[in-house]
Amino acid sequence: MECINTIKGIREYLKPYMLQDKSIGFVPTMGYLHKGHGSLIEKAAKENDIVVVSIFVNPTQFGPNEDFEKYPRDLEGDLTVAKEAGATVVFAPVASEMYVEDKKTQVVVSDLTDKLCGASRPGHFQGVTTVVTKLFNIVKANKAYFGKKDAQQLAVIQKMVQDLNMDIEIIECPIIREEDGLALSSRNVYLSEEERQEALVLSQGLFSTKERIKQGERDCVQLKNELIELINTKPLSNIDYVNFVDVNTLEDINIIDDKVLIALAVKFGNTRLIDNITVEV
Ligand code: PAJ
Repeated sequence: MECINTIKGIREYLKPYMLQDKSIGFVPTMGYLHKGHGSLIEKAAKENDIVVVSIFVNPTQFGPNEDFEKYPRDLEGDLTVAKEAGATVVFAPVASEMYVEDKKTQVVVSDLTDKLCGASRPGHFQGVTTVVTKLFNIVKANKAYFGKKDAQQLAVIQKMVQDLNMDIEIIECPIIREEDGLALSSRNVYLSEEERQEALVLSQGLFSTKERIKQGERDCVQLKNELIELINTKPLSNIDYVNFVDVNTLEDINIIDDKVLIALAVKFGNTRLIDNITVEV
């Protein structure tokens, strides 16, 4: 498996495959790959002739007080995970390769990006949609794979692809969790033993809310209060948001009549974790 650092290099690498009409699956990542990323790569490998994995810690999607500098990085480890999961080639550019100094163009998806994570991370999704567009223009894949772990990111990218007629199919992939329920995340390495233990309340709370809905509760205000109360029993937790929303529009839902996305972001110490579940009735 090759690792290529330049845009020209990856384009040249992919050209013969495109000329032969081979299908290209694409998995964009910020590296520090875990089994969640691995599952996306495996799915892409099953469904395409070749798989491109990008590894790029994108500076423009981090706020000034966020963890860009200390975001975990391990290219050697990533290459092993990517190869074992079935990647054909890794594209790992540096920031100066991806962004010219006098860049003037941004891709902005409105409304969807103001809610949930967008409310506490202004500019974040603009960074994501811009870099994903750039990566799509570089890799020109048939299908791109995104995890439901980042449910809002997925909804925003689906909308962008639809609105801008991007010629790519977005494939949603399920959330991969540790055996105890914690959703895999590159940021989990920041957690202390105690914070990690307390963070289990997130998946437990989401699963028990799903049970309550299955048992007949439909009132989101009631369910939300219960979930918030449960999370607040953990002394190290600090809730950013807990919301019951429509999967596509991300608008709040009051009474569940078909499908609900329950999305949350909670800080444990300095580490902000997100998790979600979709429940259909
Ligand atoms: P990153 O956080 O590295 O995630 C890359 C992809 O892996 C995303 O689609 C994300 O949803 C998926 N993923 C992460 N944890 C997962 C889990 N536990 N189960 C299933 N999928 C999981 O998301 C980004 O990078 C960036 O914003 C990016 C799209 C690459 C743009 O910079």
